[in-house]
Amino acid sequence: MRLMLAPMEGVIDHTMRELLTSLGGVDRCVTEFVRVSERLLPPRVFHRLCPELQHGGTTSTGVPVYVQILGGQAQVVAENAARAAELGALGIDLNFGCPAKTVNRSDGGSIILKDPQRVHDITAAARRAVPANVPVTVKTRLGYEDKDRFLDIVRAVQAANATELTVHARTKRNGYRPPAYWEDIAAAREIISIPVIANGDIWNPADALRCRKISGCDDLMLGRGALCRPDLPRLISAAHRGEAVDSLYWPDIAPLLLRFFELQLEHYDGGHAGNPLKQWLVYLRSYFPQASLLFELVKRLRQPQDIGAILKEHVAQSQQQKHNAA
Ligand SMILES: Cc1cc2nc3c(=O)[nH]c(=O)nc-3n(C[C@H](O)[C@H](O)[C@H](O)COP(=O)(O)O)c2cc1C
Repeated sequence: MRLMLAPMEGVIDHTMRELLTSLGGVDRCVTEFVRVSERLLPPRVFHRLCPELQHGGTTSTGVPVYVQILGGQAQVVAENAARAAELGALGIDLNFGCPAKTVNRSDGGSIILKDPQRVHDITAAARRAVPANVPVTVKTRLGYEDKDRFLDIVRAVQAANATELTVHARTKRNGYRPPAYWEDIAAAREIISIPVIANGDIWNPADALRCRKISGCDDLMLGRGALCRPDLPRLISAAHRGEAVDSLYWPDIAPLLLRFFELQLEHYDGGHAGNPLKQWLVYLRSYFPQASLLFELVKRLRQPQDIGAILKEHVAQSQQQKHNAA
């Protein structure tokens, strides 16, 4: 079994990849999408979304990071895929799932799913442009309005010689609403021979087990679940190996938040460093009640030093509580 960390635009950037992969259990990451429309993008765009390219294309714990490309013109996607590979990307992932209106309006993401031939042509062009030793993978939904053409899409991906296919088991129309239709992934697996990775609504180790059973896939991709429970990949992989590992408790998570905030300050404009932190707390609070309390404390703060001070105090308190409980 392999576990992939999902690409999530505006949420899982290199700082989050660094933190989440440091906890173990993740076998591969994918960057946020690089949107390509008319031209070959300069290297700095790839380096901004994937700073790991400067370090052999992996996170500091050695987890490979594939570069995701989103676009509707086969030739432009192919040129940019080749550039990402030249810059050292360990794999190229093509996004045919993004439901955002702005993206779909400019002919990218899930809108391409309306025409399986376009999925084929874009994938085949990228595959031809990228050296054979660099994987070209595809991420798709079940379809745009409905899933009538899903199996045609799946066949198109294999016919284009993609290395692997990840399926987020919903149509564009389904948005992110539960359920995820894992049984449709099983239908895809039955008709192609390349590895299929199942994705959508895996929130805990029991979901992972059920998803693998229903989809028949060995490999899974985790998105929001890993943000709500940062140790989810580690728990799933330990359960798979039949090993028992302790879950992380809030006193283990709180220092990660501080580290995350510090990484944000290091890499981005300080004035906005609090926003990603608040965003992560919103995910975390669905699992950790303490995240709700912390969110209330920081939600109106703007100045990085104020947010940093609250975080440091919170970490110190949680360490004290851990110490008292021991
Ligand atoms: C905020 C957000 C941003 C996302 N950005 C991307 C993206 O850049 N590329 C992509 O292929 N999928 C993107 N996705 C979809 C996720 O990769 C994943 O397929 C989806 O969230 C379902 O998996 P999950 O239930 O484990 O979160 C995004 C999802 C969310 C919620």
